[in-house]
Amino acid sequence: MQNQTPARKHDDAPIGLALYQPDIALNVGAVLRLGACLGVPVHVIEPCGFAFSPAAWRRSAMDYADLAQICRHDSWDAFLAERPDGRLVALTTEGADSLWDFAFAPGDTLLIGRESAGLPDAVHREADARVVIPMQPGARSLNMAMAAAIAVAEAGRQIAASAAAGQDDAVGVHPGGVVGDAPTV
Ligand SMILES: C[S@@+](CC[C@H](N)C(=O)[O-])C[C@H]1O[C@@H](n2cnc3c(N)ncnc32)[C@H](O)[C@@H]1O
Repeated sequence: MQNQTPARKHDDAPIGLALYQPDIALNVGAVLRLGACLGVPVHVIEPCGFAFSPAAWRRSAMDYADLAQICRHDSWDAFLAERPDGRLVALTTEGADSLWDFAFAPGDTLLIGRESAGLPDAVHREADARVVIPMQPGARSLNMAMAAAIAVAEAGRQIAASAAAGQDDAVGVHPGGVVGDAPTV
């Protein structure tokens, strides 16, 4: 694992995002900006469809790259060996559970598939849960950065609500990007 931004830690972030072999730099940029703004670490699993260099992510995420915690993994196997503890929750159009019914928990990493092909079967099997964002009949899929934003918002909302209700010690995903304080949402 290469943690590219050791100066800005979100180690106590309640959830993380992982992008499986993303194809499109602009989508990764949008997700890095999402992670930077909400204090959610972003794991990028190679190979990407473009050269995932510091220059590339600065181009796509602009100055938000400085706020993000980006962890680059050489392969799926490397990610499995290096990833943080907690459940792996696959976001997939073939999901078994609806996002609106799924109970997120602190420590979850939300796994997003590649734009061209989603997540392979082996990765589906490796996940602890498979979750779909319900869509209209006939709709194939959301843009991956949109799917990531919807899932992060719902997971953050649930975890913040649980913490506010005293159900656990979790903290929320903050709109102000602050991680580790009491939830303000
Ligand atoms: C553009 S989609 C992939 C489309 C791909 N052709 C497929 O069949 O999976 C990229 C990723 O966004 C996420 N995604 C998109 N729409 C989704 C939905 N409705 N529910 C859950 N995840 C979704 C998934 O992680 C998916 O792998």
